[in-house]
Amino acid sequence: MTTQNGRCVICGKALSEDNPGIPILGWARDLVGTDGIAHYLCISRLANETGYARGATPWSIGRPHPALVDLVERRVLTPCRVFEPGPGHGDNALYLASHGFDVTAADISPTAISILRARAVSLGVSLNVIQAEVIYGLDSLADQFDVVFERSFLQTLPPQMRPRYVQRIVSLLRDEGQYVGIIRGPRYPPPNTQPYAFSRQDLTNLFERHLTILEITPTVSGHGENELSFWLTRARPKR
Ligand SMILES: C[S@@+](CC[C@H](N)C(=O)[O-])C[C@H]1O[C@@H](n2cnc3c(N)ncnc32)[C@H](O)[C@@H]1O
Repeated sequence: MTTQNGRCVICGKALSEDNPGIPILGWARDLVGTDGIAHYLCISRLANETGYARGATPWSIGRPHPALVDLVERRVLTPCRVFEPGPGHGDNALYLASHGFDVTAADISPTAISILRARAVSLGVSLNVIQAEVIYGLDSLADQFDVVFERSFLQTLPPQMRPRYVQRIVSLLRDEGQYVGIIRGPRYPPPNTQPYAFSRQDLTNLFERHLTILEITPTVSGHGENELSFWLTRARPKR
């Protein structure tokens, strides 16, 4: 593996504590076509944009996730202000927006954002779609949301980025707000590469300092066949 003397193999600038380097692994290595260490921000932007531009998006299921639909149909979630990090093609954001939720969704990939905006127009659905990085950006959206909903976003984050993400969730939520995540469960092998997989204990360890866990319930990936194990996780910020 090349580290280029502590420099990012994508932008060539020095790695730093504030903008840390992570190994390019798994699907990201295949899309970016290089090995080594890159800034988290560089790898996330380049790998995701390349994936959407090439139509290489194996995570997309083309419909809202059944666990989200179930929460809405059982009225566990009722129309409110929702933020979705990493909506991709927007299956879940569009579903929520078409069911009366006031949705803001932010993705790092310009192509994903264009696809989502075009789908919203063709479906006649209104939502706020922004191209932005979620972990470092978005300070201006603090305290605005009743729900932070994600599917398969946490699984893209290497371990060192996850505490920042939990802080971001807490900062986006209003006092009585809740986090709802559909998160990749354990799989073997390969261990410890993107997309990362989580055990129930991994999720408890990650969230319990800042959030009170309401449920971590087994669910499916949503693809319909060759289903992988996922977790439906709901939690409220500790204030
Ligand atoms: C695995 S995909 C899941 C997409 C969508 N939620 C779904 O279920 O189909 C992860 C998404 O997060 C976006 N993403 C990854 N890192 C990001 C970041 N730091 N900030 C904003 N978006 C990011 C990617 O561009 C991609 O659309």
